[in-house]
Amino acid sequence: MPPDKIGVLDSGVGGLSVLREIHALLPDYPTLYFADQAHLPYGPRPPAEVRSYVSAIADFLIDRGAAVIVVACNAASAASLYDLRAQYPGIPFVGMEPAVKPAATATQSGVIGVLTTQATASGPLYARVLEQHTKHVRVITQVAPELVMIAETNSQHTPESREIIAHHLQPMLDAGADQIVLACTHFPFLTEAIQAIVGDRAQLINPSPAVARQTARVWPSGTPPTMSENRYFTSGNPAQFLTMLRNLTGVNAPVEQATWQADSMPPSLFKTSERQNASHHQSTHDN
Ligand code: DGL
Repeated sequence: MPPDKIGVLDSGVGGLSVLREIHALLPDYPTLYFADQAHLPYGPRPPAEVRSYVSAIADFLIDRGAAVIVVACNAASAASLYDLRAQYPGIPFVGMEPAVKPAATATQSGVIGVLTTQATASGPLYARVLEQHTKHVRVITQVAPELVMIAETNSQHTPESREIIAHHLQPMLDAGADQIVLACTHFPFLTEAIQAIVGDRAQLINPSPAVARQTARVWPSGTPPTMSENRYFTSGNPAQFLTMLRNLTGVNAPVEQATWQADSMPPSLFKTSERQNASHHQSTHDN
């Protein structure tokens, strides 16, 4: 069977903010989602390490029929996008790039904020977009690693989380930023909490819909698929992932376990075990 699936990967649940846009735009396309929760978070890890995980996940997804791979993680894109394209010339890779360009175009105050993680902030992709698009704009870059775990545990509304989120937004608001770029795919899941703090002072920029459109553009096969089957894999705990899948996206689908081979260098994944059963054994989404 020719490859006919869209593979999507992230360190955890963040890439689901991209996957839901892909489902909305391309409802008939089968998808494979991989959450590398065994290695979450990617943000503080050295680029070479993240690259080795992402490369093994790409193999895993290609083996299961991925015709396109969406690296739905800014940190993983920063560490590995160029290498992935060189390593798999036959596969189109769609990556995440901080949405600095639309923010720089829209700003009235001349100040934009970028909320992100360390791997993205120090990667070559970010340096390039800053260089290209911010000649006349001041950029406040805020590295906010705790926000990844707040999204991952769906705890944005606790007083402690609100305080941490406010702490990271304050420098941008103090500087007069009127555009805030969500440069981590986990952060769209914190929109309510961020918006409650920011109010109408700044607009949030989420690049996920544009990434879904880019995925449609690079789709290689002539005939679009007509029967959707969406599979979900985690290297972490399938039951926990299923709970988050339901809470964050309203999807109820089986979650499969993928396991990292112990002591394998380069890292490799081995076959999945039993599926974690969803109550209705089928994928339903609310968008
Ligand atoms: N969703 C990933 C990103 O976009 C999260 C980073 C992490 O795992 O630290 O960067």
